[in-house]
Amino acid sequence: PAGFPFVVVSNRLPVDRQVHADGTLSFRTSPGGLVTALEPVMREADGAWIGWTGSADDETEPFEHDGIHLIPVTLTADDVELYYEGFSNDTLWPLYHDVIAPPAYHREWWESYVTVNQRFADRAAAVTSEGGTVWVQDYQLQLVPKMLREQRPDLTIGFFNHIPFPAYGIYSQLPWRTQIIEGLLGADVIGFQRTADAGNFTRAVRRLLGHQTKGTVIDVPVEAEAEVKSAKHRISRVRDDKLVRTVVAKAFPISIDAARYEELARRPDIQERAREIREGLGNPKVVMLGVDRLDYTKGIGHRLKAFGELLADGTVEVEDVTLVQVASPSRERVTAYQNLRDEIELTVGRINGDFGTISHTAISYLHHGYPREEMVALYLAADVMLVTALRDGMNLVAKEYVASRFDNDGVLVLSEFAGASDELRTALRVNPHDIEGLKEAILKAIAMPKAERARRMRAMRKRVQENDVARWSSSFLATLTTPSDGLALPK
Ligand code: G6P
Repeated sequence: PAGFPFVVVSNRLPVDRQVHADGTLSFRTSPGGLVTALEPVMREADGAWIGWTGSADDETEPFEHDGIHLIPVTLTADDVELYYEGFSNDTLWPLYHDVIAPPAYHREWWESYVTVNQRFADRAAAVTSEGGTVWVQDYQLQLVPKMLREQRPDLTIGFFNHIPFPAYGIYSQLPWRTQIIEGLLGADVIGFQRTADAGNFTRAVRRLLGHQTKGTVIDVPVEAEAEVKSAKHRISRVRDDKLVRTVVAKAFPISIDAARYEELARRPDIQERAREIREGLGNPKVVMLGVDRLDYTKGIGHRLKAFGELLADGTVEVEDVTLVQVASPSRERVTAYQNLRDEIELTVGRINGDFGTISHTAISYLHHGYPREEMVALYLAADVMLVTALRDGMNLVAKEYVASRFDNDGVLVLSEFAGASDELRTALRVNPHDIEGLKEAILKAIAMPKAERARRMRAMRKRVQENDVARWSSSFLATLTTPSDGLALPK
């Protein structure tokens, strides 16, 4: 039958729209890890990618780019405001990040979320071939698995949540908490970043729906007759006189294309650029670096506070230590992000005003996104990398820094609240709320002897090289396409 045997669904397509001077449009593959990971699978399986182009009211027809079939879903200006900026980024985002910012609950945002999820599900149902596999990505599309299964019980459906899944005490605030859980349980495999996230989800399932669970396996009662006949991979079976299908919920920590970062870092022109960056900063003894989307989950303010206090105490001197903070613009129409920007820029201005000199700036603040080459040059130029997220699904910046440091040098200061800290055990791990602890970690990083830096970096590099993004996608897909007999609950 017609259609694609392998389909990825995500809110954004993995391409950036380029508007040229003459008004014509073109697309460029965005450098995200997900595309890199899935490109080989896509080519081999004749795969397709469903998603939004990032512009409101864009009615671009399906097209092919770099060998991938891209299928745009249109979002109207209202959808962008209610589904994307509203429910996705002003309800779910703060809620799932442990309410660092207060989530807003609006019924019209929820209605739009349902409508748009249905549109994505309908698209996937229409383009996937008989018995095919669909892999749905992230919190913007949590209702898609169930909506898709209702129409296409023949499909194998995976879901991966890129952000944290909160503890029940927080999750239970959500007025639509049951619908979301039911939406996700339409999948055969639900992937999370950390074991703790998978555990939080499984507990929510037990609390809200009373389903039986054992380890990573959840028994979901089957309602539709069609499902019983066609549940190919997840064998439906009888349990307490009820037909159930098994759903797996477990951790698959995402990663990056580590080899690609190392390859870039080894390029002479990029190393030259790294030297140029240090020179441009006045060749200080220590260059510290922060790289984040300008988001309140990233703990940028905490980092600035710690650095500002070290300067105020006179523990570090502006001539010796400088901080480069890249804060790439993000979700700029959402009020919480506008407020954050004001706050951060005020703080940066104060610190620079108080401690800068004619020749030395305390913080070089850059409100831009940069191409990957420039990022790698920055990683090479940075003696200390500061990742101080208050809550973060994974934090790929931490892994990119490690992957780039083929010289086994550089110190990573890493928040224990970022998923990456489960894996990068030899980073200097910090609780970013503890400003004293953060200051101590920064001082320790600055003073760390070369041998210790190398020992810590080597261990982290080993981990990132082994668990790269190709391994992430292949282990998820292997779990998704393996019959569940071995995983079933004992009778
Ligand atoms: C996080 C989310 C992604 C999202 C990205 C950028 O990494 O997990 O789903 O695409 O942020 O945010 P944006 O709202 O610009 O897509």
